[in-house]
Amino acid sequence: MNSISPLLDTAALKKNLNGRKFGSKVFAFDTIDSTNNCARALAGCWAEEGTLVFAERQTAGKGRLGRSWLANPYENLTFSLVLRPTLPPVALNLLPLYAAVAVAEAIEHETGLSVECKWPNDLLIGGKKSAGILLEGSLKEEGLDYVVLGIGVNVNQTSFPDDISPRATSLKAEAGRDIDRILLLREILKTLETRYTSIMKKGFHNLIPLWLSRTTMLNKEISVSQDGTVISGIVKGLSPEGALILDAGGTEKTLFAGDVTILAS
Ligand code: BTN
Repeated sequence: MNSISPLLDTAALKKNLNGRKFGSKVFAFDTIDSTNNCARALAGCWAEEGTLVFAERQTAGKGRLGRSWLANPYENLTFSLVLRPTLPPVALNLLPLYAAVAVAEAIEHETGLSVECKWPNDLLIGGKKSAGILLEGSLKEEGLDYVVLGIGVNVNQTSFPDDISPRATSLKAEAGRDIDRILLLREILKTLETRYTSIMKKGFHNLIPLWLSRTTMLNKEISVSQDGTVISGIVKGLSPEGALILDAGGTEKTLFAGDVTILAS
C-alpha cells in the first residue's frame, strides 16, 4: 500500500475544486469492472458533464484495441469522466490528443518530470508508457451525445507484469519519490477542464502544435499495425483531424487508428 494516500479520499479531492465542473460529482468505488463502463451507464442516464468515476481496482479494466488495463489498487489513478461536447463525430480523433496534452501538463506540474505524447493517446516518460487514455463515444443524429474519457496513470506502482515491464514506468519510478494521488488527480481535473473550455470556445487548432511539441515521433521511422495490416513510414505530422501523416516510401498515408511501434530515431 502507498504510504501517502491508501484509499483515495474524495472529500479531500473536492477541496479547491470549488465551482469547477470536472469532479463536481464523484462516484468512487473500491472495486468495479471498468470505470469507463460505469461512466457510460451514468452518461446514458443523463449524468452531467464533468461527472467523475474513480476506482481503486478494476476487474475488467479496458485498454485500447481490446487490450486489458492492469493497475495495482491504492497505488495508481484509474478514472473516467463524462463529457458532453457539442462537436461533430470527427472530434473523436482529436479529443484523445486534447486529453494527452492536459494530462501531460498536470503530471509535469506535480512531478517536474518531462512527459512525451505518443500517437494516438499514450503518455511516455523516458520512452516508457506511464499513462493511457481510452475514449468511448456515443453518437446522436446531430453529432456526439456523450464521450467517456478513461484515464489510467501509473503513479506509485514500481513493478509491472513481465510482458509489459520493459515498456512501462510510473511517476514514482521516474521521480524517485511517492506521488500524492489526490494532488495529481485534482491537477489533472483542472488542466482537463481548462483546456476543454478553451477547445469549446476556440476549436482544436491550438492543440495540434501543443501535442506536436510534446512528441518525439516526428521524422522517426515507425510501423503502425491496423486490423492485421502493417504500414511503415516516416512520421511527418498530424492532420487537422488528428490523423497521423506518414511518408510511406514516397506516398503520403493518413492514418486514423492503429498501434504504433517506433522503429528507429
Ligand atoms: C490504453 O493505453 O490502452 C488505454 C488505457 C486506459 C485505461 C483507463 S483506466 C480507467 C478507464 N477505465 C477503463 O476500463 N479503462 C480506462
